[in-house]
Amino acid sequence: MELGLKGRIAFVTGASKGIGRAIAEEFAREGVDLALFGRDRAKCEALAGEIRDENGAVRVVFSAIDFERPDTIRPAVTAAVEALGGVDILVNCAGGAPRGLLEDIPDEKWEQGFAVKPIGLMRMSREVLPYLRKSTQGRIINIAGTRGREPSMFSVMAGPINLGTLSATKVLANALGADGITVNAVNPGSTDTGRWTDLIGREARQRGVSEAEAEKHLLSEVPLGRVVMPEDIANVVVFLASARAGMISGTAINVDGGRTRSI
Ligand SMILES: NC(=O)c1ccc[n+]([C@@H]2O[C@H](COP(=O)([O-])OP(=O)(O)OC[C@H]3O[C@@H](n4cnc5c(N)ncnc54)[C@H](OP(=O)(O)O)[C@@H]3O)[C@@H](O)[C@H]2O)c1
Repeated sequence: MELGLKGRIAFVTGASKGIGRAIAEEFAREGVDLALFGRDRAKCEALAGEIRDENGAVRVVFSAIDFERPDTIRPAVTAAVEALGGVDILVNCAGGAPRGLLEDIPDEKWEQGFAVKPIGLMRMSREVLPYLRKSTQGRIINIAGTRGREPSMFSVMAGPINLGTLSATKVLANALGADGITVNAVNPGSTDTGRWTDLIGREARQRGVSEAEAEKHLLSEVPLGRVVMPEDIANVVVFLASARAGMISGTAINVDGGRTRSI
């Protein structure tokens, strides 16, 4: 399917690794110019170099941002806009609250989790908005999480934080439709980033079984029988960014192999 994204400009937060990295790489394959936002300059600049090597014509810049320091957002966005000349697509992917029971999570972790998403994505969207309004195909795509729909007591932060992200998605979609900007969320199920490895380890310890058995048990809850790969998320994000998805707004798509039980 021709997605017609060549020459568009995407800003991706949380681009240094995991899902954000896969999204950036998939955009580059479609010929999209990129601004990668993250805290780790060395990691992001190395990734920018790799993407340039593999996709000759694509422009890639890095801008340092830390959502726990809101004063870093405006300079990062301004620098990226100056380097690339505008923006068509904003992907808010930064995040990744720690798993744990209620008594495992101190206040500081709650504050960090909300500062990155959903508050961070609202701040980022507000900052990018004046430039996005100038695009002929404005897009905001938020990476939320299936726990926003089906909270788990074992990952107590993921419910409130991702529900907030889903609500932010709907609010932005309502507010920005008149500007022709679509706003959607993608809900990853447990995805094969470092977080999956942590989950297997935790499950093995809690159940007193080997990691192989823990992984088998976790996968038994997924109808499609395999872990979600970062590329599975990236494929949906790239589609939502394209003109093909022009009438989809204010919704959230689960990419979880069918694991979420609710309709
Ligand atoms: N993996 C899953 O199973 C899963 C499931 C549901 C939802 N999600 C969501 O998907 C998104 C990506 O998850 P992932 O598994 O790819 O996580 P990851 O591998 O841990 O990557 C998280 C990204 O967020 C960035 N980040 C974290 N805190 C930040 C801050 N204060 N300021 C700026 N950037 C910050 C990290 O940058 P640094 O390199 O600077 O740390 C990194 O690039 C998250 O929003 C997560 O909640 C993931």
